[in-house]
Amino acid sequence: MNEGYQDPGDSPRRPSLPPAFRLVALECVGSTNDEARRLVADADAEDGTLVWAREQTGGRGRLGRDWNSPRGNLYLSLILRPECPLSEAVQLGFVAAIALCDAIGTVMPPMVEAQVKWPNDILVNDCKIAGFLLETVLSSDGSMQALLLGMGVNVRHYPEDARYPATSLRAEGAASDVDEVAVLEAFSRHFLKWTNRWLDEGFSPVRANWLHRAKGRGERIEVRLPNETLHGVFRDLDEAGALCLDREDGGDLRRIYAGDVFFAE
Ligand code: BTN
Repeated sequence: MNEGYQDPGDSPRRPSLPPAFRLVALECVGSTNDEARRLVADADAEDGTLVWAREQTGGRGRLGRDWNSPRGNLYLSLILRPECPLSEAVQLGFVAAIALCDAIGTVMPPMVEAQVKWPNDILVNDCKIAGFLLETVLSSDGSMQALLLGMGVNVRHYPEDARYPATSLRAEGAASDVDEVAVLEAFSRHFLKWTNRWLDEGFSPVRANWLHRAKGRGERIEVRLPNETLHGVFRDLDEAGALCLDREDGGDLRRIYAGDVFFAE
């Protein structure tokens, strides 16, 4: 972990969230996504239930990776029950990404701007500061029972050995009173704002805002898939959340649904 680590020690104040959320606050849990899944299965937890833990012992990232989760960072999973097919519900990952960018803007000094990196990473000064893990809970008939939106934000700490360079809000200049509670409160407000806009106007304004904040659009990128590495120009984001890559070997425009993006130096 980054140098200068200091355990906050004291308990943070209880977050104050808009009434649309029902907070489940935990000291320590394996993974908030697993806890959220359990709440859906055992208690039929409602839309807007937000599981927040100060620490995770088995935090998970995308593609089966670990998410190191010491105290001082933000770990949450939001239970969502959108009334639309899964193909549209995945757009909520992009809603959350731009909401977090807005939230970061409110807690950071002026001129610090968060960017998005496909599919669901948030960058500050070209380093990863947050990530999302979207999972579904399926009913026995295969329909979507709930969408779990897991979010981890590096507030005080960041891994130094990550595959993509990482940073934290504190390392990028956040004031000492910016803690995980302040970020959670700001995120909840902006997530509500953007979700209402998505419900009223559809994916179009969300996609436009996401593309405006996207690192590398129109530039040459590398996309690492499990069995191949592609190179091409990052053209667009489609309605399904796929990255549209104009391949440099002359092949068709390729839509990519899962993978890791790297930018030219
Ligand atoms: C990634 O960038 O790979 C996604 C990271 C997601 C981490 C969060 S922390 C809260 C929630 N619980 C988990 O186990 N993972 C997500």
